[in-house]
Amino acid sequence: MATRKILEFGRDDMLRKHSRVVDKFDKRLWTLLDDMADTMYEADGAGLAAVQVGVLKRCVVIDVGEGLIELINPEIVSSEGEMINAEGCLSVPGRRGTVKRPERVTVRAQDRKGRPIEVRGEGFLTMALCHEIDHLDGVIYVDKMIEDVTDREEDE
Ligand code: NI
Repeated sequence: MATRKILEFGRDDMLRKHSRVVDKFDKRLWTLLDDMADTMYEADGAGLAAVQVGVLKRCVVIDVGEGLIELINPEIVSSEGEMINAEGCLSVPGRRGTVKRPERVTVRAQDRKGRPIEVRGEGFLTMALCHEIDHLDGVIYVDKMIEDVTDREEDE
């Protein structure tokens, strides 16, 4: 169990960098993934990309309440539909904004041992997948934000 410091948007330019493809599925990667999950859970987030803890590797962890998903080198291979929802980011604390995302996506990735996996998302999971994969190319949700909803009460 170890948590890492989450980089903050506006304070750290690393969040704008492109992460590199992972080609070594070793202990170092597994420690990173474990620390990312610990960090995400401690911060009460639904997803975290490695760049957010200062590591430029194409790795994300997601848990939208259905268990932990680890994705290495994820790519969206198909998407369908459209939805607009409010999202937030652990690197943009205290703020939320609406973003247009697909309704459904299929993502191909590798697991922590390098084996190919496929994840299909709907609704909140789709939002998390798109949001985290964006991080790997230096994109933050505020770049795509339609409207800031930070101070508005939302019905959940
Ligand atoms: Ni984020």
